[in-house]
Amino acid sequence: MLQVTALAQLFLVLCTVLINSIWIVKGGKNFDWKPDINGTNDYTCDLDFCTGDQFDVNRCCACLYIESNISEFSPLHVEIINNKGESVVILNKKDIGAVNVSIKHSNGWLRFFPSNLCDFKSELKSIDFSYNQIKQWTNFSCLYMLDSLNLTRNSLATVSNSTFIGLYSLRSVDLSFNEIRTIDLHMLSDQSIHLFNLDLSNNLMKTLDASNMIVQDKFFCKIDFSYNEIRGLTNTDETLLTNEVNQNGGDIFLRNMREEFYFNELFSYSFKTIEDYQILFSNFRGTYDIKNSKAHCDCHVARFLKFCPDDFYRIYKAKNNKLVCGSPENLVNVSVIDLPLYNEVFDEMICEVWDHCPRKCKCIEQPRRDRLFIDCSNQSLHTLPAEMPQSLFNLEIDFSDNSIINIDNREYLKRTVEINFERNLLKTVDKTFIENIPMMSSVNLKENQITTLAKEIQNLHPDIFLFNQTEVVCECSSEWIKIWRELKHANKSFEFGCRAENGHGIVIELFSFIDLFCETEKPDNSAIIIGFLVLLSILSFVLTALFFFHFELSILGAKLRRKTHKDWNRDVFISFDEENIEVFIFIQKILKPNLIRKGYKVFSSDDMLFGQSRDLKDEHNVQVEPRDVIIVLSDNFDKPKNINDNCWIMTEFDYCWKKFIGLHIRNLITLNFDSLSSSDLSNRKLKAVKRICPCVLVPDRRHEVLARFETILGAPIRKHAFN
Ligand SMILES: *[C@@H]1O[C@H](CO)[C@@H](O)[C@H](O)[C@H]1NC(C)=O
Ligand SMILES: *[C@@H]1O[C@H](CO)[C@@H](O)[C@H](O)[C@H]1NC(C)=O
Ligand SMILES: *[C@@H]1O[C@H](CO)[C@@H](O)[C@H](O)[C@H]1NC(C)=O
Ligand SMILES: *[C@@H]1O[C@H](CO)[C@@H](O)[C@H](O)[C@H]1NC(C)=O
Ligand SMILES: *[C@@H]1O[C@H](CO)[C@@H](O)[C@H](O)[C@H]1NC(C)=O
Ligand SMILES: *[C@@H]1O[C@H](CO)[C@@H](O)[C@H](O)[C@H]1NC(C)=O
Ligand SMILES: *[C@@H]1O[C@H](CO)[C@@H](O)[C@H](O)[C@H]1NC(C)=O
Ligand SMILES: *[C@@H]1O[C@H](CO)[C@@H](O)[C@H](O)[C@H]1NC(C)=O
Ligand SMILES: *[C@@H]1O[C@H](CO)[C@@H](O)[C@H](O)[C@H]1NC(C)=O
Ligand SMILES: *[C@@H]1O[C@H](CO)[C@@H](O)[C@H](O)[C@H]1NC(C)=O
Repeated sequence: MLQVTALAQLFLVLCTVLINSIWIVKGGKNFDWKPDINGTNDYTCDLDFCTGDQFDVNRCCACLYIESNISEFSPLHVEIINNKGESVVILNKKDIGAVNVSIKHSNGWLRFFPSNLCDFKSELKSIDFSYNQIKQWTNFSCLYMLDSLNLTRNSLATVSNSTFIGLYSLRSVDLSFNEIRTIDLHMLSDQSIHLFNLDLSNNLMKTLDASNMIVQDKFFCKIDFSYNEIRGLTNTDETLLTNEVNQNGGDIFLRNMREEFYFNELFSYSFKTIEDYQILFSNFRGTYDIKNSKAHCDCHVARFLKFCPDDFYRIYKAKNNKLVCGSPENLVNVSVIDLPLYNEVFDEMICEVWDHCPRKCKCIEQPRRDRLFIDCSNQSLHTLPAEMPQSLFNLEIDFSDNSIINIDNREYLKRTVEINFERNLLKTVDKTFIENIPMMSSVNLKENQITTLAKEIQNLHPDIFLFNQTEVVCECSSEWIKIWRELKHANKSFEFGCRAENGHGIVIELFSFIDLFCETEKPDNSAIIIGFLVLLSILSFVLTALFFFHFELSILGAKLRRKTHKDWNRDVFISFDEENIEVFIFIQKILKPNLIRKGYKVFSSDDMLFGQSRDLKDEHNVQVEPRDVIIVLSDNFDKPKNINDNCWIMTEFDYCWKKFIGLHIRNLITLNFDSLSSSDLSNRKLKAVKRICPCVLVPDRRHEVLARFETILGAPIRKHAFN
């Protein structure tokens, strides 16, 4: 009976679980949603309604949030206790035990927050003190259940970054129509803060920091800064560039600003590279609504357009608004977003750069033309300024109408694409300058007193230089200029005039050098000759090395290419001078028997029938394929024993050498019986083998020789049964 009840209950539980899960599946579009990455799952969000990528879903869910239904709340009352505006909250007696309570005290004379708010910390869900005269914040970090806070039309002057700490449930704050002038950095960054909607419109703010626009790892719906006097956008602690964490903006409202925005402070310090801009814009997933506000359209706006147009348009077009310029003059009322991408009017988006700009010059960044233009013209300069500003862009420098005599070597010339020296006192174009201008596309040298050009100029195209008339004399020594210009097809409109005998200028191509009977100038061959000599010496070195060591190299090559897959039928072949009696005894009585005892299959010179040494064959006339060959070096072994005889041992050696180089033999080992030195050997292959291949000396203790052979030979093949 008891069991039946238990079973029934279990069944019931199972059913409930099932029904519940079915309900969840049915209502599957609702899912638990966290208000920030570390938050608790205390919200549900409609997935059918909120679609898109993670960011879109998060923002949509934040915006779906609706304040708790006020009518469910049991209102509390506020009683002002003195004429200073101090107050206390009075609990309505019949509401004791209420779970959700709200306080509303609108249109009053409150100057301070009620002093006993914390008494209601576990019930208080909503505070509405709109239309009062509250000037000062209180510490209400105790109100962890507070859901909405309405303080519109009070007299608050600041918001600190501790104001909302501890208000875990706070979702909506209305601070519009106060007198707020400053807000701290990171107003919303504390872990306990999960605000979705914050209204700061109609205040007196003059600056806005990036740390209050981009709140890392938090999702919000809307922060409204409209109707302020915000002009300076700042990035005090470089919030904009933190790309380690996902940055989650919501919608930032910056409508109807009374002043135009200046972006210079926002970017000038931390944005050093083009990638910095791209990181910023690709990370920022929110939008800016800037209806009826204007921007100061300087180089900073142009940089956005230049470096990340797509992100720029995504962010600003999203809210169907226009980025309208309020200045400079030529761009007033121009809507950047309505123009074709990077239209010519963006030429006007410039900034003057002060940092490191030479005192007498004016430095202007112009992103549309990819340049930092530096105007140093007509400033009585005698030398080039020491430095120029660093920039994301290349330099174009105007030094015209000065008294510059010499082009000194300067770092910035490397970053310069155009330079103008018109009407200066230059006399030469020297090698250092020519070799220091990798980016240069135009050098204007008109109306100087150029008398000499470094010949290195021939490596560059003549059209890079504008000479017009020079003081170069039309004589044999300048014929190369003509040749240079003709060879490289100089544009006829980039004339080069040399000075003829009569003092008149004449275009060098038109001057007839033939009449001067110039010796055809020999091309400057020194570099070629040196190069050739170097090549020659390298070549001769290599050849020498090849000549003297090519057998060594063959051995090394054979060792490198070695593959051990041969069908060997002997472990060792011992090649020795049979006529040397000592050697014969050593081989026959000691080496061979010992090797055989260790399991090696051994074949030696004396096993061969006479006349076979050209081709190793055993007594059954079967080809011998040894894995290793031991060559015994003994006195005079490589000399023929009588005039008519061949030196058999050398024939054997040649045979083995070929097999070794052909990779049929694994190793050539020398056994130096009579302590011969290389100079005692006349055959160079043999010398090479002695130098490079394993070599065993015959010392007094014979078992060491055997041990050495064993290490060199390794294990016997033991594969075939033969002999
Ligand atoms: C608030 O709750 C009341 C009943 O408690 C209901 O009649 C009213 O429609 C609700 N309002 C909203 C906006 O949900
Ligand atoms: C209190 O408010 C929550 C929603 O904020 C609601 O779910 C709950 O039913 C309310 N409780 C009472 C007793 O009104
Ligand atoms: C507010 O009060 C809490 C304790 O109730 C305290 O920990 C916190 O430091 C206070 N905050 C400020 C800004 O004084
Ligand atoms: C705050 O109160 C005012 C006046 O009652 C109201 O107009 C405004 O909509 C409220 N703000 C929010 C965010 O509910
Ligand atoms: C709070 O604001 C002050 C002043 O703006 C700032 O110095 C401080 O770093 C901020 N605190 C945090 C946690 O950002
Ligand atoms: C989330 O929690 C981790 C670890 O507890 C912490 O390091 C991180 O700062 C938290 N992030 C936020 C936004 O609170
Ligand atoms: C810019 O537009 C405003 C409002 O549309 C207008 O009052 C102003 O005269 C315009 N200024 C220029 C220079 O066109
Ligand atoms: C150079 O400056 C002087 C005065 O500063 C001026 O009189 C002269 O016209 C200028 N020359 C050029 C070419 O601009
Ligand atoms: C020569 O230079 C002129 C002026 O810069 C230019 O218009 C012309 O196209 C150039 N000619 C050639 C062949 O490059
Ligand atoms: C130099 O420039 C002047 C004026 O632009 C021009 O008349 C002359 O033909 C040019 N060429 C030479 C080689 O002087």
